[in-house]
Amino acid sequence: MAPTLGEREAPAIRVEHGPRLRVSRRIDIGGTPGVVRDAADVLALRRFDAEGMKALVIYESMYGNTHAVADAVAQGLSPRADVDVLPASGAGGVPGDVDLLIVGGPTHMHGLATAMSRKMAVTASKEDVAHVEPGATERPSLREWLRDLEARGVKAAAFDTRGDARAVVTGSAAHGIARRLRRRGCDVIDSQSFLVADSAGPLEDGELDRAREWGAFLAASSS
Ligand SMILES: Cc1cc2nc3c(=O)[nH]c(=O)nc-3n(C[C@H](O)[C@H](O)[C@H](O)COP(=O)(O)O)c2cc1C
Repeated sequence: MAPTLGEREAPAIRVEHGPRLRVSRRIDIGGTPGVVRDAADVLALRRFDAEGMKALVIYESMYGNTHAVADAVAQGLSPRADVDVLPASGAGGVPGDVDLLIVGGPTHMHGLATAMSRKMAVTASKEDVAHVEPGATERPSLREWLRDLEARGVKAAAFDTRGDARAVVTGSAAHGIARRLRRRGCDVIDSQSFLVADSAGPLEDGELDRAREWGAFLAASSS
């Protein structure tokens, strides 16, 4: 149905922070986050309705950086796709109408986070007074979610956040995520890393813009 102006018609990106709590978030079209600005924006929403692509962004995040990248990727996808953004711990299975699945997590000890590294992240946050995401250590972890994933034949992409050095030095969770997606029968079209300046963040300058551009690229590659 064609949207009309108002609060209700712009939930192109939905974010879930807990197992069953779904929160609508207003779309950001090339300007102030969360603001539908004028009739041109509504036309953009009409275009996404017409194309009808469904995308799902799944993330794990301890300090919020990977979550921020997941939201930015969704913003990049949103002109062409109806996008849900969900933490692995609250995502459940992948609905059958999803055309594009994007999965990201922080790089811990050169790969995907483990139960131990997630605990280490929380301990370190107390020492550094860093922000920890709500439900950061809830299960399923991203590893567990990927182990149980059923999405054979679905187009997919992997991303991570990691330190600002060459991947041979830092390792990359995205490599492990892409490998697991392939094992589960997904058609992996790309993999990308986004860099943090320090362990708890922030992201390096320009990384959220790069994440939006990557989202737009993925949407264009899969339509
Ligand atoms: C226990 C632990 C191990 C980490 N190991 C690595 C690593 O091997 N390579 C790396 O580049 N960054 C490593 N980091 C930094 C994380 O990549 C960084 O905290 C993460 O990208 C931030 O994402 P988040 O805010 O979504 O948790 C580690 C962080 C923690 C807490």
